[in-house]
This record gives sequence, C-alpha cells and structure tokens, in this order.
Amino acid sequence: MLRVELDQLQAGMKLALPVRCRHSYKILLNAGTVINEEHVQRLKELNPADVYIFSPHFMDDPAQELYREAVSSMDDIFQEVISGNKVDVSRVKQVVNGIVERLKIHDQILVQLARLNDADSYSVSHCVNVCIYSLFIGSNLNLRNEQMQLLGLGALLHDIGKLYMPESLLRKGGKLSDREFSIIKDHPLIGYRSLEGTDTPEEVGDIVRDHHEKCDGSGYPYGIGGEKISFLTKIVSVADIYDAVTSDRAYRPRMLPHEGMEILLANCSAGKIDPQVVKLFTRKVVTYPPGCTVRLNTGEIAKVVESKALSWRPKVVVKKGNRVKFVDLAANPTVFISQIIDIE
Ligand SMILES: [Fe+2]
Repeated sequence: MLRVELDQLQAGMKLALPVRCRHSYKILLNAGTVINEEHVQRLKELNPADVYIFSPHFMDDPAQELYREAVSSMDDIFQEVISGNKVDVSRVKQVVNGIVERLKIHDQILVQLARLNDADSYSVSHCVNVCIYSLFIGSNLNLRNEQMQLLGLGALLHDIGKLYMPESLLRKGGKLSDREFSIIKDHPLIGYRSLEGTDTPEEVGDIVRDHHEKCDGSGYPYGIGGEKISFLTKIVSVADIYDAVTSDRAYRPRMLPHEGMEILLANCSAGKIDPQVVKLFTRKVVTYPPGCTVRLNTGEIAKVVESKALSWRPKVVVKKGNRVKFVDLAANPTVFISQIIDIE
C-alpha cells in the first residue's frame, strides 16, 4: 500500500483504504474502488485527506496486507479519539501484536514498506512506520515480549497529542513562527494527558510525553536528559526522526535512506540521541535492497544486485544497450545514489 499525492493519482489505481473528507472525515470513496478519470478530477476538486492505493509491487504480499490493516485500524482508533472518545488501548495492542508477529518473518520487508509509505508527520502512516522501526530495533535488541508490547504501544500513540492540534498548523508549508511552534510543542503533554483514565501502562505514557526530549537535555517539553528518559522512549525518538527526515514535508523533499542514516549519526555525535540504538539501527536496516532501481549521480539508471546491512553503498548493475556494467559503489567513492526510482 502506498500513499499517493493527488497529482500522482491515475485511473486504474485501486484504493487500499477509504478516502475521507479532510474536514468532516466522511468517506468519499470506499476501499477497493478502482479509480477512473472522473474520480481523479473530483478528488482533485475536493482535496481530500490522505489517499492510499495498493502498490503493484507488494500486491498479495502478507506484509503489505498487515501494513494496510495496521493503518486502517489506527485510522479508526484515531477517528474515535477525534470524535471525543478515549483511545481504545486494547485495539492498539492488537495492532502491535500483528506487527511483532510479522517482524519475526519479514523484518526487512516491513522496514521497506515503512520507508516506501512516505508519511506526513500528522498521518496515521507515520505512527505505523515509527512502530515498525521501533519494534525492528526492539527485536534486534532481543527485548522481552512485555517490553515489545510497551514499545509498540508507545510508538503507535507517540503523536496522539497531534489529534488535538489545529490542522492548519500541522499542514502549514514553510517555517512556523515562534508562537506556532510553541503550540506544536504542546503535543507531547496534551497526548500524555489524553491517556488519563485509560488503561495505558505508565511506560507508554512516558514515551508519549518524552519522545521529543533529547539525551543532552535540549529537547521538550521539560528539557530532561540522560537516564531520566526511558530506554524505550530513546528507541521511539530515533525511529521518529528517521521516518520524519525520509518523508516529504510541505517545506522540503524527503531525504534518501542513507542521508536519513547520516542525520541519525550526526544527532548521535551531537549527544542528542542514544548511541546504542543508532548503532543498531544503522547497521541492521538494509537501505537499498536488491532489486531496487536507482539513479546514480552519473545520470545512469542502475539496479541494486547486492546489498549489505552495514553498507549504504551497494553493488549495482547498469545496462547500456546490450552491455552490462557492474559497479561496486563501496569501491567507487565518487559514484553515489542520487534518487530511488522503484523498488521491486
Ligand atoms: Fe511528536
């Protein structure tokens, strides 16, 4: 499943989730609808909330199906919260369990799905992506089941406070004013308070409240640092930053996976995020999986043929007419990936 921009929407695409009105959240088109030209025109006029289609690359894939179900469930759960109800923690737990089970079989595929599903900071996909990245880190750290549950719940709910923020601010293109930013900075505390009266474990509340705190004390809302931030929160912070920088924003295009990793390393060197978490994440995630089609800085189109988790510079093959050229990017420092074109 992929989130598509309205200008990318084409006749023949099949909706993976219902398309809702941006303001009333009424369903405009049902899941399963095959888009025609009339739909494209109408949706462009209506400017709806996010549009998700089935990706042809992952059609019928169980990991893709799980991703679709997770986004759909979280969408329902958040709609209930927007309607004035408390979050249904038992339903969120079911989503976490599904992701934990699937990660045991398809960890890299789920991580690639998270990366492909470019997510606005306010979107449901962002919460699901952060959950996948967090649980991927957790499983590689061999966290116990109980800890994985807490981690997954905290990751899915980390931005629940944004449901109470003015949408005009969340979707604003360009830089926020100081006043606007101070409003946005309230979302961790508002989210934390919204969990009062639910059976959310304390550790999950800590993640929601502290996910923008930094190890050096430079974060918000309280500027706590070091050991005062729980380890589970530190995992979610890394996942949150990675998903944010590798997704398009109104004010900047997305970064490539290896650039996202470099941002994590820079934040780590500056003492802002946890080194153990960053080391594990940057070593375990395959940034360019085999089969991925990329553009090189030479302008050539290449296909990745071999990729190691530790290396962000895979081996690629370039086809020129009948000729085939293999390039090991690790051995050719002046050649690098400048764009991802497609993932098989
Ligand atoms: Fe946040």
